[in-house]
Amino acid sequence: MRSHSESVTADRMTSGARWLLDTPDGYGVVTRCLHWLMAALLVLQFSSAAVHFFGEDSALDEMLWPKHRANGFVLFCLTFVRGAWGLANLRSRPAHLPSWIGRVAVLGQLAMYGLMLLVPVLALLRAYGNGRGFSLLGLGIVPATGEEVTTLRALGNDFHGPLGWCLSLLIVGHVSMALVHHFLLRDATLRRMIGMKS
Ligand code: HEM
Repeated sequence: MRSHSESVTADRMTSGARWLLDTPDGYGVVTRCLHWLMAALLVLQFSSAAVHFFGEDSALDEMLWPKHRANGFVLFCLTFVRGAWGLANLRSRPAHLPSWIGRVAVLGQLAMYGLMLLVPVLALLRAYGNGRGFSLLGLGIVPATGEEVTTLRALGNDFHGPLGWCLSLLIVGHVSMALVHHFLLRDATLRRMIGMKS
């Protein structure tokens, strides 16, 4: 049999883990931190892309554009961390609505994950294809070969930007639906991601 102090310690450990992990009633602190950190980095990423598109060589572009590549690579890495954490918590997360709205939400989330991987992959392939490579903090991520691989360069040129804008539209849809849940359906969907009690 467990002593009193052993069971108190075990209870504390479980409640500590509960705070970190997702439960059917809400998301844990790790999921919430990853969600809002990536949201902030995506705002920076799309701001840099939009300013570059509308105001190339403006002072704001000169400030934001140099951060686009590094920030995009960090987002790429965080997508793996978030995906792995999501899979580990899949069975204990809050359930989606049991209607077509829930199924559309799952499809939308899968599409966002797919694009969050594909968009930076296309940029990295182009970095290889144009021979210039890509490094971050002195770490060579994509080797600079100095040789052009026309197909890879063209793939990146043709699809990185357009698919990036598709991702931005999906995110606008995702944010809009979170607001619909909160203000029209008045359920706990948004509160769960903020960490407020349902
Ligand atoms: C989730 C990550 C990323 C997103 C959402 C994203 C989004 C975008 C968007 C929307 C554009 C179009 C800008 C325009 O129309 O002028 C763009 C351009 C560009 N991105 Fe990214 N990007 C990401 C990651 C990266 C990474 C990792 C790199 C480099 C390693 C990179 C390099 C570039 C370059 C050089 C351009 C300018 C050429 C072009 O329009 O294709 N991006 N990005």
